[in-house]
Amino acid sequence: MVSAEFNPMGTTALVTGASSGFGVGYAHALAERGADLVLVARRQERLEALAVELAETYGTVSTVIPLDLSRTDAVAELVADLRSREITVGTLVNNAGFATYGTFVDLDPARELEEVDVNVRALTALTHALLPGLLTTALKHPHGAALVNLASTAAFQPVPHMAVYGASKAYVLSFTEALWYETRGTGLKVTAICPGPARTEFTEVAGNDELSFYRRQLSVDDVMHTTFAALDRASVPPHAVSGTQNAVLARLSTLSPRRAVLNTIGRLSAPGRRR
Ligand SMILES: NC(=O)c1ccc[n+]([C@@H]2O[C@H](COP(=O)([O-])OP(=O)(O)OC[C@H]3O[C@@H](n4cnc5c(N)ncnc54)[C@H](OP(=O)(O)O)[C@@H]3O)[C@@H](O)[C@H]2O)c1
Repeated sequence: MVSAEFNPMGTTALVTGASSGFGVGYAHALAERGADLVLVARRQERLEALAVELAETYGTVSTVIPLDLSRTDAVAELVADLRSREITVGTLVNNAGFATYGTFVDLDPARELEEVDVNVRALTALTHALLPGLLTTALKHPHGAALVNLASTAAFQPVPHMAVYGASKAYVLSFTEALWYETRGTGLKVTAICPGPARTEFTEVAGNDELSFYRRQLSVDDVMHTTFAALDRASVPPHAVSGTQNAVLARLSTLSPRRAVLNTIGRLSAPGRRR
């Protein structure tokens, strides 16, 4: 395997969902590699505390932009804000996202659409708006520009009881892999990261205690390791699954008959079940 270590030193990386979980991990890992940061999420105090921590630890300059990405005008506002501050983003980590849990017909339709807006709509709009800058940065800083989109192992098959979440992550995986292909030869490192269940605020937000009973949960560090191992490769993979067991299960899901996979996942994800 040829190494082409990802080196964003002297560039700016934007992380959405930087107030919690993987987003905080990405902010630290990118700052450690010398990038300045743009931190985006709704909880401003958390972002500001993180900006101070990054400055003290790595000497990083962070720009805090509190924003609700479920708003339809959020990305246009963010892009205008970046332009007025003359910030060119060289690495984009589309990490903000959440899940809802339950039988689709019983879930709040407004919250389901909010999930599509954050997980799919904002990610697509932000990628489109920032991709030209990522490509320019890739030319100026070899191995220094990246597009990292957070998919999930939920992307590899439909997920009953998390129907919209599974579909949103299938979109992220498919979209990112297509962009991986379209940007070949540009020097931009493009990959979709697919974690399995992990210890963050994710299950709490989903209101799903069931998920926290998965025995093998990943840590934020595990997911950072998967991400940066992928980015450090000369040939960055279109997607990377975090965790060996998760990688095997994801592969099995794609190779097995769809109906059998649906029945298994449907049973495993059913409310009241403990794993
Ligand atoms: N943890 C897992 O088991 C797991 C597994 C696979 C994939 N993932 C994916 O990994 C990503 C990060 O999740 P996590 O596990 O780190 O969960 P988390 O701890 O709940 O963090 C989610 C982040 O998304 C932000 N966010 C949510 N809604 C937002 C909105 N409307 N506008 C702006 N930001 C918003 C949150 O910030 P605010 O609340 O401050 O806005 C928070 O910073 C998500 O895309 C998730 O789907 C997670």
